[in-house]
Amino acid sequence: MSRHVVARVSEVPPEGALRVTVKGRPIALFNLSGEFFALYDRCPHEGASLCAGRRVSIAVADTPGEYRLERRGEMIRCPWHGWDFDIRTGQSWCDPEHTRVRRYAVSVEAGERLAKGPFRAESVPVSVEDDYLVVEV
Ligand code: FES
Repeated sequence: MSRHVVARVSEVPPEGALRVTVKGRPIALFNLSGEFFALYDRCPHEGASLCAGRRVSIAVADTPGEYRLERRGEMIRCPWHGWDFDIRTGQSWCDPEHTRVRRYAVSVEAGERLAKGPFRAESVPVSVEDDYLVVEV
């Protein structure tokens, strides 16, 4: 497991989302009132970006016809066909036994601490040919 600095905290506003790519994988970052969560940003149904989904709540009913909303904004509704996923766990509420979105651990690190390492930047060879930059990857 490797750690990657992916965004500033301020880039994911409260109740907002941000799509980043890490090692070629699209990852959706979510901010739940200051807590951050990361999910693989492809719906397991047909691959929509969950980052583009709408934040919804859980409707709970003790008796028919009377319901209340709980965990406001902690679910993400897929923009294509409306499957709901728990942002905290990636669990599907359509098929919780068999369907979930991969979850990634997220931590908030002070910039000063990150500047000291142990991270090392990846470098690639670069050459200049007739006024064009060519990057070898
Ligand atoms: S692609 Fe997400 S519910 Fe269909």
